Amino acid sequence: MIDIQRAPKSKLSETNFDNLVFGQVFSDHMMECDYKNGKWQTPVIKPYGPLSLEPSARVFHYGQAVFEGMKAYKDENDKIWLFRPDENFNRINRSSKRLAIPEFPKEYFFEALEELLKIDKAWIKKGFGNSLYLRPFVIATEAGVSASPANEYKFMIICSPAQAYYSGEVRVKFSEKYSRAADGGVGFAKAAGNYGAQFYPTNLAKEEGYQQIIWTDANTHDYLEEAGTMNIFFRIGDKLVTAPTNDRILDGVTRKSVLSLAEEFNIETEVRRVSVQEIIEAAEKGELKEMFGSGTATVINPIVGFGYKDHKFDLPNMEDSYARSFKDKLMKIQYNQAEDKFGWRYEVK
Ligand SMILES: Cc1ncc(COP(=O)(O)O)c(C=O)c1O
Repeated sequence: MIDIQRAPKSKLSETNFDNLVFGQVFSDHMMECDYKNGKWQTPVIKPYGPLSLEPSARVFHYGQAVFEGMKAYKDENDKIWLFRPDENFNRINRSSKRLAIPEFPKEYFFEALEELLKIDKAWIKKGFGNSLYLRPFVIATEAGVSASPANEYKFMIICSPAQAYYSGEVRVKFSEKYSRAADGGVGFAKAAGNYGAQFYPTNLAKEEGYQQIIWTDANTHDYLEEAGTMNIFFRIGDKLVTAPTNDRILDGVTRKSVLSLAEEFNIETEVRRVSVQEIIEAAEKGELKEMFGSGTATVINPIVGFGYKDHKFDLPNMEDSYARSFKDKLMKIQYNQAEDKFGWRYEVK
């Protein structure tokens, strides 16, 4: 059912796995599946390489493009694991639907992904923190610049070896002017344009000494929503608080896993709107103990400080950090080192 064309020569021996820059190196193979004549054609696994597209291809003009981010892990016995891949599959189809892109069949996704991982399994290195980052994406390839949904698409998966990601100290700026997403818009989708639109405001925040922006609601800028590629959690006292997902916020796989683990750890959790004012007041009273982001790339990313208008706060360094406990437990589940109570692990056989 899948057409496989093997790379004549592997790039493995030329790859320095001790010095990987995230998302720069790609494995030997990729998956490509075309949509034409009203249906998805046979998926093909072929050597990783450039595409040839018409300059008028719709994706370049109207941004009909969605993507996913997931990882494959190898345990000490060379078994390969994915983490909740159904969630990513369902989400890329939710994203596609919003961008008027035809949904991708589940059996194609899993068969092609597993075949690709088996062919490129040597690219998944053992060791806590090592993984193969997987980037499924869909683009509108049909030629012609009329502003209408394309009739032709490509669904692809490319794979990039990744090491444990140390982002350094992260200070965030609460957005007071720019917005990432609006009501009724595409914020909940992993639409390429959502990310392109964040670069300019993020560059401005970087000039002020921050690494990332925490996006606030577009109407009032009073409520904290999510970071650029992470959902966001606050620990106020010993309570864990995060915003509910809606049509502006991505329904993160890591976020929902943290919420399940919080229950297991008996941590009191509130999923509700979180106002900028509340967080500033909690910080002033010394009740804001932690702030962290959650996402596939970094798993859990502790935030050491934040700023909003003239306010600037540093967060304490907690001995009993929630961020550390969540990260440790999630990674142990991902690497098959801890019991998988929730059935999140998926073995690639
Ligand atoms: C905007 C946004 N929020 C949150 C996340 C975290 O989602 P996940 O935990 O599924 O990686 C991502 C990354 O996928 C993202 O792009």
